[in-house]
Amino acid sequence: MSSLRQLYYDLFSEVYDAIIRLHSRDVGSSLRKFIAEKANLSRGDRALDLCTGTGSVAVELAEQVGEKGFVIGLDFSRGMLEKAKEKALRVHLNQFSVVQANASALPFKSSCFDGVTCSHAFYELRGEERNKAINEVARVLRSGARFCLMEHAKPEKAWVRLFFYIRIFFLGARDARKFLSEEGSILGERFKNITKVMSPTGQSKLIYGEKGEG
Ligand SMILES: C[S@@+](CC[C@H](N)C(=O)[O-])C[C@H]1O[C@@H](n2cnc3c(N)ncnc32)[C@H](O)[C@@H]1O
Repeated sequence: MSSLRQLYYDLFSEVYDAIIRLHSRDVGSSLRKFIAEKANLSRGDRALDLCTGTGSVAVELAEQVGEKGFVIGLDFSRGMLEKAKEKALRVHLNQFSVVQANASALPFKSSCFDGVTCSHAFYELRGEERNKAINEVARVLRSGARFCLMEHAKPEKAWVRLFFYIRIFFLGARDARKFLSEEGSILGERFKNITKVMSPTGQSKLIYGEKGEG
């Protein structure tokens, strides 16, 4: 049975891409290309895009891994995944599949991915769900492979900030503000070589790190 949050995202999927286009200054999907490039993938690699939504990042990853590679877009919202499939069909990508699951319990074998990304979604996970998702990402990545996390930078305009925090409150992610200020050190507990950079649009931050040996 769907949770209320899944239902919310199912409905949101109908207008999600249009809202993102209006809200962000993200000309030509530069933000999604930015995270895909930092994922450090090669031709033939296998990648996972967590909380993929309408698949904007996953489609960019699929371009990076080429026809011999493979990309899975995972999300718990069926509505979002339907939009992601439509997007992949439009650009004729065969190396892309979707999986409906919760980010906190990944239905994959250990060490099976060469890269994992997650864009603008991790902060929305609830405390324990987020901790489990971090452990799951570390489990499914092969040693030396990269986890790339993109999150919103603190909105500059007061009204946008207010709207942002109200949305987080209703989604139930009460510790999201704390996570958004400490994500580097939180990821540092599971990954090494943590690096943080701002996106070209200045609206998002990208944090990435690699899985250690063993
Ligand atoms: C704000 S959207 C971001 C979508 C996409 N990554 C992007 O950058 O456009 C957040 C996405 O996370 C998904 N999501 C939220 N909580 C989740 C969970 N616990 N497990 C799997 N997906 C989840 C939602 O269904 C939604 O598609």
